[in-house]
Formats: sequence, C-alpha cells, structure tokens
Amino acid sequence: MKKKKIFIVYFSPAGSTRHVAEVIEKQFLALGAEVSSFDLAECSSDVATTISLQMEASEGKSCLFVGSPVYVSHAVPLVMEFIAGLKENTGAFAVPFVTWGGACSGISLYEMGKELLNKGLPLLGAAKVLAVHSLMWPLENALGKGHPDADDDQMVKELVDHINQKLHEDHPEGIKLSDLAYQSKENHAEMEKISLQAAKAHMPERTIDTELCNQCQVCSDVCPADAVTFAPYPEFGDGCVFCFNCMKKCPEEAINTDLSEIWQRIKDRAAFFSEKPYSQIFTIPPLIQRS
Ligand SMILES: Cc1cc2nc3c(=O)[nH]c(=O)nc-3n(C[C@H](O)[C@H](O)[C@H](O)COP(=O)(O)O)c2cc1C
Repeated sequence: MKKKKIFIVYFSPAGSTRHVAEVIEKQFLALGAEVSSFDLAECSSDVATTISLQMEASEGKSCLFVGSPVYVSHAVPLVMEFIAGLKENTGAFAVPFVTWGGACSGISLYEMGKELLNKGLPLLGAAKVLAVHSLMWPLENALGKGHPDADDDQMVKELVDHINQKLHEDHPEGIKLSDLAYQSKENHAEMEKISLQAAKAHMPERTIDTELCNQCQVCSDVCPADAVTFAPYPEFGDGCVFCFNCMKKCPEEAINTDLSEIWQRIKDRAAFFSEKPYSQIFTIPPLIQRS
C-alpha cells in the first residue's frame, strides 16, 4: 500500500501549538505514515508552494494539518497567508487546528476551514485545544494553565487515529464548514469586525531600559515574526504580533510593559463568552465531546 503523507504546518510563539503539532506527528509516525513538519517562524515565504507541489506529486493520499494560536479571535495572519499561498486542487485533504487561551476561540477554525476549502482541500476534521493564555505568562492563575494536558493530548491522538482511518477510505466524507461555525451569529459577526491589526492600537507600549539592555539580540532571535531591529536599542516593527517573546526571553529583563489592563479585558471576555467545551475535535461521525 502507498504510504500516507502527512504535512504539519504551524505557528507557535509560546509553544502550545507546537506541542499539539508534535502529538500529531508522533501519533502518525506510530501509525506508519510519512510526516513532514514545518514551523512557519523558520520557513521561507515559498513554503506554501513547496508543500503544494509535494502534495500534488504524492502517490498515496496526503493530508495537511495547519495549526495556529488564536489571536484576537482569529488565526494569526501568517497562518492565513500560508493557506492563501497554497495551490488549488492538489488532491490532498486538510485538518485545521488551533490552541486558544480560555478567553474565546473565536472564528479562527471557521476562517481557516473556509480558506482550506477554497483551495479545494476537503476537511477531514478539526480541533480546538485549550492552552495556557500566552499573554498571561507572569500570572499564577493564568487562564488555561496546565493545558494542553494529558486529556487534551489523548483527544488529539484520537483525532489522528480517526483521520488515519479516513485516509484508508476511497472517498472519505469530511466535515462541513458549518460544523466549525460554533459561535452565535451575533458573536461571529462581532468577531469578523475585530483583528489583530486593529487590536495593536490598544496594546501597551514596551519600554527599553537602556541601562540594562546590552544589545545581545536575543529579543530579535526569539521573535517569530522577525520584527525586531536595533537603532541602537530594540525597536518593534509593523510585523510584530505581540507575542511578547522579546520580553519573556530577554536575559537582562530590559524590556518592560504593563499588561494589567489587558489581563482584565481577557478575564472579562472569558466570563462573557464562557466558551465550552474547552477542547474539542470535529469529525464525521462525531467522536468525543469534553466539557
Ligand atoms: C496577541 C495575542 C492575542 C490572543 N488572543 C486570544 C484570544 O482572542 N482568545 C484566546 O482565548 N486566547 C488568545 N490568546 C492566547 C493564545 O491563543 C494561546 O495562549 C495559544 O495557545 C498560544 O499559542 P502558542 O503557545 O502556540 O503561541 C492570545 C495571545 C496573544 C499573544
């Protein structure tokens, strides 16, 4: 039998989406599939074309898993740009997955699914996985703390087993886009109007303590968006996605900001939406529901 080819593409400034990508990779390897993984922070801009050509040339069935953190109720722009860059009708299938920080998973899965379908990639499944909120890293009681946990991992493995089965079928039935439209119509419409770009205006300024900063470049090395330049101290360009890796990883603690208002807004949003289930996989037929 021809080997199934699995492509996993993800973006993960704080590591939770990478963790899910690794669970997917390990489980497929255990099932004997061929797997190629790509971290978008380390890929050149033609990665979408490269993967499309490989999917087109694949002799067995191939499936593309695309993973993103939820940022301001959407998938991150870099992930959407990757999907937009795929060639149409490569004959492959797709599975979008997101990690979210317990505030609201928004319309990220829906938008990723829609774009993947537009590229002619039927959706064999999808997953949203609760993760620690990456903007709350200094807090003891960060939303999503301890996630993804062993139950989340198990759920993802079950998704992989299911997709693996589907890839054995001649004409596997996929999920519908409407399965991913799980927000209410009003909330969905509200979320369509907000964006990371617009939210940037409300993000607090970062200041550099020039006494402490020794221009070691760690902040630029850990920036997944390649947005830090030096003049002579760090400056944050338009591509910044506000993951705050620069601040988290600065060995001199020279980058500062006050996130207290943002934390309150996140908590208010979590209380408003009270989104459940926290982690969920979407399959036909449905496999698991967690509360
Ligand atoms: C700029 C920014 C915006 C975020 N927006 C949301 C959001 O709208 N809803 C939510 O639940 N979590 C939100 N999060 C939290 C992340 O979705 C969550 O922590 C995710 O697991 C991070 O993935 P990573 O560890 O792969 O970077 C946001 C995080 C950042 C940095």
